[in-house]
Amino acid sequence: MQVTISSGNNINGTLVLPLFEGEETLPEIVEGIPTTLKSQINRVLADGDFKAKANATMTLMGTEGGKAMLIGLGKTDKADVHAYREAGATVVASCKKVHGGELTVVFHDADLASMTSFAEGMMLRDYSYDLYKKKDDDDDEDINLSARINCNEGDATALSAAIDRAASIVSGVHLSRDLGNCPPNDMYPMAFAEKAELWAKQYDNVKVEVIDYEAAKRHGMGGLVAVGMGSSRKPCMVIFTLNGDQKGQHPMLVGKGITFDTGGISLKPGANMDEMKYDMGGSATVFGTMEALASSGYPGKVVAITCMAENMPAANAQRPGDVITTLSGKTIEVLNTDAEGRLVLSDGLWKAGTDYEPEYIVDFATLTGACVVALGHEATGLWSNDDDFRTRIHEAGNDVGELAWPMPLLPAFEKEMTSSKIADTRNLGAGRWGGANTAAAFLKQFVPNRGEGDDAEQITWAHMDIAGTYWGAKTNKMVGHGATGIHVRTMVRLITGE
Ligand code: BES
Ligand code: ZN
Ligand code: ZN
Repeated sequence: MQVTISSGNNINGTLVLPLFEGEETLPEIVEGIPTTLKSQINRVLADGDFKAKANATMTLMGTEGGKAMLIGLGKTDKADVHAYREAGATVVASCKKVHGGELTVVFHDADLASMTSFAEGMMLRDYSYDLYKKKDDDDDEDINLSARINCNEGDATALSAAIDRAASIVSGVHLSRDLGNCPPNDMYPMAFAEKAELWAKQYDNVKVEVIDYEAAKRHGMGGLVAVGMGSSRKPCMVIFTLNGDQKGQHPMLVGKGITFDTGGISLKPGANMDEMKYDMGGSATVFGTMEALASSGYPGKVVAITCMAENMPAANAQRPGDVITTLSGKTIEVLNTDAEGRLVLSDGLWKAGTDYEPEYIVDFATLTGACVVALGHEATGLWSNDDDFRTRIHEAGNDVGELAWPMPLLPAFEKEMTSSKIADTRNLGAGRWGGANTAAAFLKQFVPNRGEGDDAEQITWAHMDIAGTYWGAKTNKMVGHGATGIHVRTMVRLITGE
């Protein structure tokens, strides 16, 4: 969706009028509204027929032409950037064929951040995954929308720059959603890698390296290999580097990329198994974040690793009871092949901490059903070995309206995961209780230390379990269907501070 800025007052297409609850009036400045539409809006507002509660909408049509959509922002004192973002998204979600493809938004008296948020909400919500559907002119989703925001001349330059940046970040969110929504027959490890390589060609300051199955075996990536070997679509690791010529410490992202999780030999039940195409949501988050950073021109260095595999039951698949040796040298007793995300991440985290210079590592994974039990679809589970860092991520999430909730990383959980009789560690807790926490504690064992001897200290690390938030979030107004693309914006906020 194209959003442009105009410092004029004219209306093109449908007039979009954001209003505060209790202050429902037509702004003076609006020009060029057909008289009958104008009187209709004034009458509806004067009669109190439209209450501008948050996300309430009403469409009006003048008898001599012209259309308007009224959109509620709620009470003035509650109308923060989140309310504006949701209102923008609601406008797009409510657009039908009758509204046409052009919108002109006229704010009463909104500041730059509010207008940018509204535009961001419109752009975020203007998404549908229809690659595999024939185009249908009668489908409301198929309208090509463009919007213009009328603002004061003084605001135009700054607003235009802010909206351009927001559009770049939205391109990252939408990339994450496209990757997640792609059906698993077309989204397999090397297909993801090829998409990454193709993507990198657009940018001079981006590099993508693919460690294929043979190389992964040679390097000793026992976790990645064990999970992926039972599929005819072999596993791989994809490494994204932005501004690699810069020296010094940099943020590092790691993503779980199970392009389909059948559970393997510990086969999942059939109901809703199709949803396990989203099990590469962590890798999509990481890829989307790199796109958002690259396209918005972020100048710093960032490196990301995605661990790609398809978890299939097969004659050559790993078995419950197998002991594997990971890249770290640590052995794992695989007690359940459905706890595969932590196996591929063990290699990704180790590589991230040993081959690069991370200021911090953040991993993203649709890791556990237990996290969905704990937090539902409302918040991502957030663990960290550094309380201040965890708070920074929590706050970055709050700032952009993507909730990540603090969860405990307790020594008892770690102990539970190291109780194997025959290996260094095991991929299953002693029981099902606290399953999201034991999974996090398992991952912690694969985060390397910085420094040696007495100076050794574990690298700052956070784990984000997006099993409940990468898809299925019904209350998320930015999303119509399918993958949410969550936390691309959180990461941009964390990394860039903007
Ligand atoms: N991909 C699943 C986690 C998942 C489940 C995500 C439901 C979203 C919705 C993961 O690989 C898995 O199967 N985890 C197991 C772990 C268990 C065997 C310890 C789980 O959560 O049941
Ligand atoms: Zn699984
Ligand atoms: Zn999984």
